[in-house]
Amino acid sequence: KFENLAQTPPMGWNSWNKFACNVNEQVIKDAADYMVSSGMKDAGYNYVVIDDCWHGERDSLGFITADKERFPSGMKALIDYVHSKGLKFGIYSDAGWQTCGGRPGSRGREFQDAQTYAKWGVDYLKYDWCETEGLKAEGAYMTMRNALREAGRPIVLSICEWGDNQPWEWGEDVGHLWRTTGDIYNCFDCEENHGTWSSFGVLQILDMQDGLREYAGPGHWNDPDMMEVGNGMSVNEDRAHFTMWCMIAAPLIAGNDLANMSQETIDILTNKEMIAINQDPLGIQGFKYKTIGEVEVWFKPLQNKEWAVTFLNRGNEEQKITFDWKNEKVMDELNNLAANFNETTYKLRDVWKHKSVGNTKNRIKLTIPAHNVVTYRLLK
Ligand code: GLA
Repeated sequence: KFENLAQTPPMGWNSWNKFACNVNEQVIKDAADYMVSSGMKDAGYNYVVIDDCWHGERDSLGFITADKERFPSGMKALIDYVHSKGLKFGIYSDAGWQTCGGRPGSRGREFQDAQTYAKWGVDYLKYDWCETEGLKAEGAYMTMRNALREAGRPIVLSICEWGDNQPWEWGEDVGHLWRTTGDIYNCFDCEENHGTWSSFGVLQILDMQDGLREYAGPGHWNDPDMMEVGNGMSVNEDRAHFTMWCMIAAPLIAGNDLANMSQETIDILTNKEMIAINQDPLGIQGFKYKTIGEVEVWFKPLQNKEWAVTFLNRGNEEQKITFDWKNEKVMDELNNLAANFNETTYKLRDVWKHKSVGNTKNRIKLTIPAHNVVTYRLLK
């Protein structure tokens, strides 16, 4: 594993959530162009990742090629284009015989594929887990890790086996992030049954992160899957989704059509105060502190003894709550960090309103719309 990569959660864009198998040169170029012109690059996003279905056949020597109709200029030229924008490029493969979309997988070709990626200038590999009968996950991902290392180019390795083999227990030495769940579904509070498998809404994925925070840190992150911001949920739901991914130090991989974003979507994805909470150098995953009816209160320790706090309204009705800081004892036992509001008065910075709103001396009264959040940065 390349140790100095992904010291904060990776940020970027991936084609799957919006385009699925309908990828081509133009889709990727557009994503790169609009990542720059929308201000996302300036806010910290840098990986443009193509997901499944870019592949053509292997050539007579077994080297993988891009689909010639959809990528007439070839993969190297496309990657050069992304690099010319000051961005990095991510690619997708699978540990088995075939990808989940039925394209050639890397099984038996791991070192050859890693050489190809390095030669093309790939910076990030999402490595999936379809058609892997007989393989053991840890070993299969170690094989690709070793192949990438051998190829000599620093490449972030994104482990995607859906949490089936407890990757949090072995992933730190193997990859830089690991999916903890099945696929996200573009809804706030639902589970979608596809027959043999299910995909999960924002709240369902959030709940499945329970108990995993101890495994994450700089260079090795829990990955609750790519974001659905801008793909059709309400603005409040998108804001809550983005906020919670920031609070749990998740990779921030946008999954929408960057060429056609509303101003609200841009404002959510490029909220630099919120992103600073996600990208805090301590790299500590936030935790649920308490539940007040339908409202969950989450805390995340930040550098310089600051904190982020989010009030998440999971319910379908507006909620009114009172929060009296001086009655609260916030403790991150894992990292031995405490916020004691009787000893320390913090200034409150509203991260979505972008303004200072008093301090923790007095209790606050909050009105939180359905499926929305209030987030403060607690400043010393
Ligand atoms: C799996 C992964 C998804 C996506 C698809 C592509 O389902 O979990 O994120 O990469 O495969 O086929």
